[in-house]
Amino acid sequence: MNEQRDEISITIINASEEYAVKTYSREFRNLMTLLNNQMYLENFGACGGQGRCATCMVKVVGLSGDANIMERNEAATIGKAGLSGKSIRLSCQLFINADLDGAVITIQGEG
Ligand code: FES
Repeated sequence: MNEQRDEISITIINASEEYAVKTYSREFRNLMTLLNNQMYLENFGACGGQGRCATCMVKVVGLSGDANIMERNEAATIGKAGLSGKSIRLSCQLFINADLDGAVITIQGEG
């Protein structure tokens, strides 16, 4: 029962405050779930991770591997929200795995 899991370290920036967060592969369903759990954000992830509402949008720097590949629906939802750029992502579409290790995630809040 002592399964070894690799630690994943990420930096979260929310309202100019920086937080160092450690997690493990699949500890959370996706990055949106982790952010809601760690940051207690209001109205974040309104569609429950279906990739439709864009309320879970973040700026991410430092992704590696497959995490850099954006599904068509994700790009479309971000585009509808009037944003673009490959560092802008829907956090509900990013899985918690080693591709996230070392990433810096800035929450795109109303403020
Ligand atoms: S939770 Fe709605 S798009 Fe991510």
